[in-house]
Amino acid sequence: MKVDGALRVPGDKSISHRALMLAALGKGESRIRGLLCSADVESTAGVLRALGAGIPEITPAGFAVKGGGLRGLRESAGDLDCGNSGTTARLMSGVLAAIPFDSHVTGDASLSRRPMKRVARPLEAMGARFEFTSGDGLPMTVRGGLLRGVTWFSETPSAQVKSAILLAGLVADVPVEVHEPAATRDHTERMLRARGVDVRTEEHVVTLVPAARLDAADTDVPGDPSSAAFFVALAAMAGGGSLAIEGVCVNPTRTGAFRALEEFGARVQYQDARDDGGEPVATIVAAPRLLRGVTIDPAVVPSLIDELPMLACVAARAEGETRVTGAAELRVKESDRIAAVVRNLRAIGADAEELPDGFVVRGSDRPYRGRVTTHGDHRIAMAFGVLGALSGNALDIDDHACVNVSYPGFWSDLARVTS
Ligand code: S3P
Repeated sequence: MKVDGALRVPGDKSISHRALMLAALGKGESRIRGLLCSADVESTAGVLRALGAGIPEITPAGFAVKGGGLRGLRESAGDLDCGNSGTTARLMSGVLAAIPFDSHVTGDASLSRRPMKRVARPLEAMGARFEFTSGDGLPMTVRGGLLRGVTWFSETPSAQVKSAILLAGLVADVPVEVHEPAATRDHTERMLRARGVDVRTEEHVVTLVPAARLDAADTDVPGDPSSAAFFVALAAMAGGGSLAIEGVCVNPTRTGAFRALEEFGARVQYQDARDDGGEPVATIVAAPRLLRGVTIDPAVVPSLIDELPMLACVAARAEGETRVTGAAELRVKESDRIAAVVRNLRAIGADAEELPDGFVVRGSDRPYRGRVTTHGDHRIAMAFGVLGALSGNALDIDDHACVNVSYPGFWSDLARVTS
């Protein structure tokens, strides 16, 4: 199998959620172009609409949102359904905590199993109330109200927790300070600064100085590096050729997977690098070379957390052993990604084992064949979709449609660039 040509992956998921939320909370009109139009982002649009925000039909081509300001949202008559989207549930919790009404937040079966108390705890320390009916997951009721400022020491590196606290501070007009154990994606900070908010970052500490306002601002959403990573990995493992992936967000908090793929031995180059609306953007050109197993440093895990299923599949094609530790967070993603990756690799004939906080994979060039169980997890489907596209492999993936939460055109893009 050879790769060839150029492609553009859909807009970044993290930035798309934030663009909609900040447009709804800003004062005046914000234009959004390049938005990811996927099930997860539809969940954010739907929740904002239920709260009275003027979000029109979303399209990648572009649309305008008339923001109602920081006090513009109103109580929803019905549940706020976050679907499969953890980012919707957790970031919106910060907003809901700061407005004086009750909200009932729900999600699908996968999201309902994911931990929410990690956002509830800091928001309760600020004065909001959260009620859970079963353990740590959705459904939950958020009773928002007058909040006070907080200095919060996060136990897990999580951009969603950090962002929820920043959004609560913004809407409540109180100072917040978040200490993270490791740097996580910083889109919220960049986007707030672009909208006139004083947000400071020093080492792993982020501080928001209250300003009681949020300016409207336009967003050009760059391509999602987490989606691009599937094609960089495909090019790395291909039998020849090269792929150019255009307009990708190369924010250093997101590009650990590209650095890891280079370490595996792949050729990964940035071309046409530029700054676009506060985010670094580039065309990534990737090509195959001999791949050798790597040891991923736990310190870089937050910069490639969503890409670990793909890197595990690359490891199955690399010579020698790949070891990932410090990634226990993978167990509470859309599926238990440590179990899902290792069981699927074993099911198709690869040598892989689980660790409590990661995995070990020993690569080989033998053909991989068998059935892949995605557990409805988009990144498991795409990672094994890429592995299955390589010459000699034949993988039967149980659910193709689950990619719709982050990359609806994935299968046609995959077919288009391979031959
Ligand atoms: C995200 C943060 C990460 C990531 C998720 C999107 C975000 O989650 O895995 O896909 O947009 O802030 P955590 O904050 O739980 O690490």
